Amino acid sequence: MDQSKREEPEKSLCTRIAACFTQHRSEAARPAAVCGRPRIGLFAQGGILRDGAWQVYRLDQPITDAVFEAGGFPLGHQHLRSIAGTDDFQLDLAALHAAVQRDREDDLQPFCVVANAGTTNTGAIDPLAAIADFCEREGLWFHVDGSYGAFGRLDPRIASRYRGMERADSLTLDPHKWLSVPYECGCALVRNREQLVATFAVPPPDYLRETLGDVRFTDYSMQLSRGFHALKLWIAFMSAGRSGLVALVSLHNALARHLAELIDDTPELERMAPVELSTVCFRAVPPRLRSDDAALDAFNKAVMREVQLEGEAFLSGATLRGFFVLRACVLHPMTTEEDIVALVGAVQRAVGRLRGVSTCIRRTDTRQSAIESDIRRRKQ
Ligand SMILES: Cc1ncc(COP(=O)(O)O)c(C=O)c1O
Repeated sequence: MDQSKREEPEKSLCTRIAACFTQHRSEAARPAAVCGRPRIGLFAQGGILRDGAWQVYRLDQPITDAVFEAGGFPLGHQHLRSIAGTDDFQLDLAALHAAVQRDREDDLQPFCVVANAGTTNTGAIDPLAAIADFCEREGLWFHVDGSYGAFGRLDPRIASRYRGMERADSLTLDPHKWLSVPYECGCALVRNREQLVATFAVPPPDYLRETLGDVRFTDYSMQLSRGFHALKLWIAFMSAGRSGLVALVSLHNALARHLAELIDDTPELERMAPVELSTVCFRAVPPRLRSDDAALDAFNKAVMREVQLEGEAFLSGATLRGFFVLRACVLHPMTTEEDIVALVGAVQRAVGRLRGVSTCIRRTDTRQSAIESDIRRRKQ
């Protein structure tokens, strides 16, 4: 076989795609916010969101706002359209379609859709292929926020859920989240390198003109001097290998599913979202508070604090459809099944303390033993 022909497609892909390492994901979102505009001509006309008419569409989830405001250049609230989520906390395509159409009728200028390859709150993966189709049809920049969840693609069990991610115009990744790369290491992959360079390049100063090589990282973002963030990722790849990373991500997803099962089997706990990746959202529902949403919110905030203060496990919180929920996210490489059991135990102890029922249900207590024997039974 003619080797040069065989290598051609890969080579051309590598020279087209640009990878730009940043300190964190929020900054990595910037290419999407800025590069999306040359595609539709505004940048060429010399304006950066000059008239306030440019619109970005994203799931109604606070983190995305923060990201686009912090890192995405001067995108204020007026440029951000919140799109409702479905019952599964994914971007609602029908709502997206309607919003874009409405804005066009109002002479606004849609330019970018931010899809999630794993949301922060629940780990939901948006219907990426359908969103890619929509962006293609409508001439919109297709950005995928994969900072947390894109690495879930390594888990063979759910790899097909990511269909369409490969069509993104830009994709952000945070190796410092799931790949255990030390903080901070964010990365933006931009499909069309020329577009990225056209957006960010500035003429190099005299003293550098002859020394910069073909790839000038200063042309990829606002940053000039930069640290060698890619080295940390390279070390993670080299030490774990692809198979090690596949095993890590698959294990975390399995542990999250196991946690979901334990929660589903515990009458006083209620799961609040489907589990796609390594994130599980749930809440405690003591019978006497069951019909009082405000009291349940206050109770669960107190449970979160109790668990954090006790120090055996760590839970964060999130708000889903107006309810406060406890959020467990498995990302640490040393997390084991025992830790998952311990987390449920810590929540139960906190619930017990807050109800004043028990002050010291330890891991070895009856309920915990019941959970442990349940795990053993499932394994057999
Ligand atoms: C999906 C998603 N996007 C963006 C971010 C922001 O990442 P960073 O703090 O690295 O900028 C997070 C943080 O958790 C996230 O989960």
